[in-house]
Amino acid sequence: MSLTMPILEELQLYSINKCPFESFEKWFEEALTKEENPSAFSLATATNNAVPSVRFLLFKGLQNYKFNFFTNKTSPKSQDLSKNPYAAMAFYWHKTGRQVRISGKVEEMNREMVEDYCSKRPRLSQVATYVSKQGQKLKSKNELIESFNQCLESFEGKNIPTPNHWTGYSVIPHEIEFFIYGEHRLNDRFLFEKKESESWEISRLAP
Ligand SMILES: Cc1cc2nc3c(=O)[nH]c(=O)nc-3n(C[C@H](O)[C@H](O)[C@H](O)COP(=O)(O)O)c2cc1C
Repeated sequence: MSLTMPILEELQLYSINKCPFESFEKWFEEALTKEENPSAFSLATATNNAVPSVRFLLFKGLQNYKFNFFTNKTSPKSQDLSKNPYAAMAFYWHKTGRQVRISGKVEEMNREMVEDYCSKRPRLSQVATYVSKQGQKLKSKNELIESFNQCLESFEGKNIPTPNHWTGYSVIPHEIEFFIYGEHRLNDRFLFEKKESESWEISRLAP
């Protein structure tokens, strides 16, 4: 590859174009055909002035240029987000050696979207969501199983309403980086930074 090749031509070599969202969707669609768990991503949060915290979640779609996920509203990550509404996500797709990093502001989804998502989940997952006090200390697994069974019984023959403690969040990105493993660790990295004009500035980064 010529060192003087314009960046948009370089991007094409990796199925990336000047729109980071279209590029993400293209990479994600390919990951869906190749990877075992392509939706898994890590989410880093931090309260102001505190140590960051990271965990894996499942990506639930790109909608209106925002990256969606669902979780418990009382969990440590949600508590972080209520104090500091900025987060970073990272996907890693092993089969193609690709990584995507996204950082941005996080907003809570409207209730309608959360209910729509929850109502389509398998019934037993809905029960598990209902009884889980994510992040709280448990005396034993039995404690959890008992509340699961009680909940299952109490909703027998009925629809399970979306619990108030379940919610969804959307990450509105201000930076998206596409990374591809290269030979001899000469990795390719393309950073998209959102400018005030709402356009994206694209740079190649050193590996
Ligand atoms: C592959 C994978 C996917 C997960 N997906 C979710 C998810 O979509 N939502 C969720 O709340 N927790 C999910 N979890 C559990 C989280 O990693 C984590 O244990 C939980 O959300 C509590 O995080 P917190 O204590 O940092 O708030 C997933 C775990 C793994 C390993």
